[in-house]
Amino acid sequence: MSSLLLDVQGVSKYFGGLQANEDVSFQVNKGEIVSIIGPNGAGKSTLFSCITGFHRLDKGQVFFKGQDITNRKPHAIGKLGVVRTFQIAQVISDMTVLENVMTGGFLKHSRVPEVRKRAGEVLSFTGLFEKRHRNALSLSISDKKRLEVSMALAMEPELLMLDESMAGLTPVELREMIELIRKVRQRGVTVVVVEHVMEAVMELSDRVVVLNSGRKIVEGPPKEVVANPEVIRAYLGERYHAARQ
Ligand SMILES: Nc1ncnc2c1ncn2[C@@H]1O[C@H](COP(=O)(O)OP(=O)(O)OP(=O)(O)O)[C@@H](O)[C@H]1O
Ligand SMILES: [Mg+2]
Repeated sequence: MSSLLLDVQGVSKYFGGLQANEDVSFQVNKGEIVSIIGPNGAGKSTLFSCITGFHRLDKGQVFFKGQDITNRKPHAIGKLGVVRTFQIAQVISDMTVLENVMTGGFLKHSRVPEVRKRAGEVLSFTGLFEKRHRNALSLSISDKKRLEVSMALAMEPELLMLDESMAGLTPVELREMIELIRKVRQRGVTVVVVEHVMEAVMELSDRVVVLNSGRKIVEGPPKEVVANPEVIRAYLGERYHAARQ
């Protein structure tokens, strides 16, 4: 039986006259990987920000494990177990890889030796342990993406929300990131991704939610969603179909 983890109900967010999210509802069950796709400007990152407390909603409610988390602070939502990454790696600081991951660890733990030990474990899991003493800003794009995931994992989330973790990766790096996300799920973490890389969406997702102009237009299993005429018209177009041939 599936158990409901995240319940997003009728979320609307306006920037002046712009409807960035309009009455968006969707649910995520424990253990799932759900993808959110849609054209540039569809409102995907805004929805992440609304769920995780980085934006105040104008309408709607967000529940995590039955608890109303609407408009709570990101820190409080993180402590409850909902952690996101950002599309633009804005959280990585001019410190070592290990120190960056440690900043995540302080969300749930306060003793430095314990936080350092846990951060090392996370880096072993994500494959960055050998680079733990490198300056984080010197990492490749791929390793920066991996570091962001590591920092998020150090916060010990139950629900991990990844905003475009696969953008700009080579095919080999893409395979590695897909494998890492699978491993994260095997650990019992539920995952929501915002993603344009359809190969990853098709391989990873149990369910796909499609946004267009702030609204949810379609939701379903990946194969059904990519064959949906409305999704092809609004987003995939010839791009995806050409790529499949
Ligand atoms: N802080 C903000 N202030 C004003 N407008 C914003 C703000 N953030 C986003 N928007 C606008 O809201 C709309 C949705 O943006 P959002 O970043 O959520 O889209 P997205 O689906 O994540 O797009 P992309 O695929 O390009 O990342 C866009 O029109 C964007 O310009
Ligand atoms: Mg975005």
